[in-house]
Amino acid sequence: MRDYSLASAADAQAVANGLADAEWYRSPISPDRLQSLSVRTNGRAAIDLLLYVALLVGSAVLLYWSLWSWWTLPAAFVYGTLYGSSSDPRWHECGHGTAFRSSVLNNLVYFPASFMLLREATLWRWSHVRHHSDTIVVGRDPEIILARPPQLGDWLPNLIGLKAGTFMMRRTVRHATGNISAADESYLPEHAKPLVVREARMTVTIWLAVLAGCLVLGSAVPLLFVIGPSFYGAWLMLVLGTTQHLGLREDVLDHRQNTRTIYLNPVLRFLYLNMNYHAEHHMFPQVPYHALPRLHREIQHDMPTPLPSLIAAYREVVPALRRQHTDPSWEIPREIPVASAASGGAGASSDTAQPRSVGGGAFDVGDDQSVRPGHVVRVDIGDRTFALYRVGRDIFATDGICTHSRSVHLATGTVVGDQIECPKHNGRFDIASGEPRRAPVCEALGTYRVVVVDGRLVLEAGLKHP
Ligand code: FES
Repeated sequence: MRDYSLASAADAQAVANGLADAEWYRSPISPDRLQSLSVRTNGRAAIDLLLYVALLVGSAVLLYWSLWSWWTLPAAFVYGTLYGSSSDPRWHECGHGTAFRSSVLNNLVYFPASFMLLREATLWRWSHVRHHSDTIVVGRDPEIILARPPQLGDWLPNLIGLKAGTFMMRRTVRHATGNISAADESYLPEHAKPLVVREARMTVTIWLAVLAGCLVLGSAVPLLFVIGPSFYGAWLMLVLGTTQHLGLREDVLDHRQNTRTIYLNPVLRFLYLNMNYHAEHHMFPQVPYHALPRLHREIQHDMPTPLPSLIAAYREVVPALRRQHTDPSWEIPREIPVASAASGGAGASSDTAQPRSVGGGAFDVGDDQSVRPGHVVRVDIGDRTFALYRVGRDIFATDGICTHSRSVHLATGTVVGDQIECPKHNGRFDIASGEPRRAPVCEALGTYRVVVVDGRLVLEAGLKHP
């Protein structure tokens, strides 16, 4: 059996094979179109969230009224599914910072949803960053839900969260004692560890308070509403999550090969927040959930044919897992459109300027209208890359490569107000100062002066002509 553990020989092998923090394929899309698809509004996310909360609270009231009658079962089924499954895509979207325009609102959803899912908020933020860096790369991705050869005994109990839920609770308790495993340390930055320990202690305290409530009341009712639904309501999260990557290729740098897009009906799409467009999400994580169907239509010509339904997905996944049970190296072959082989891949979606040296380490980078509000222009000078932005009437320039992985061009990112958001993990920088504004970025970008001379933009890059 292949070793899937992190911080292991498999990890070292993935690094040696160039699979860690590597450059991934991105389907070609125009910068204008990508920018318009990446717009977030508080209003749209608020409507979806209010509907979800209304359903959650309504089902909780029904559950309470129905207590210990025959209606308890269907009421618990609905409440549990909303609590233990539908909180997952809300957690996920707000973790990316793409649901609301406001970071505060995203965090207001992310932290309670983490609790509902038994996930440690900070730990999982970093775990998900790694999942996006190294999707289904063995030894690197902490979110592979089934190792090969797949065992039914590893999947089935998680319909009621038995293995995954108990693992996460045990891990939280361990973190509350200050003990973080080498596997978790492998993706957690040093500065985040004290926060993980503090959050774990707070979470364990709340769990103990719920248990104390049960003892005081002499009843298991509190557990029916909190903690319990993280288990008995987890089934839909597993059923939908199984379709994301299982059976597809491991260790490949193309989401079209290892991630599935399926069509779902509107009810499931609401419960799952459009995460059925999963390949699109992985390829362009800056696009919010509500724009994923439009993104799908935009790049469909470059993607494998989506599966038409959940049932069709399981018709593909189940035989694949049975086959991988006896032959773990077997993977579902996917047909990739031929034309895409010649397309630009990563970095294909950006406006670029043609710099011309004007002496003194300065470069003419175009006329002063060439940088439009909300757009980023990439400037390559020798082996350096810069990014130009217009915020209000002012033009700014920063280093063009994200300081997090040092391989991602910010010119393919998204301007959010006065910040630039990296297209890989949604980290953000202040455009004017270059300072980091959103994890996972921690290190500032260099900033450069841009002046207008006779209607031309001159970037004072401090470089000699290459
Ligand atoms: S590469 Fe991770 S946030 Fe930029």
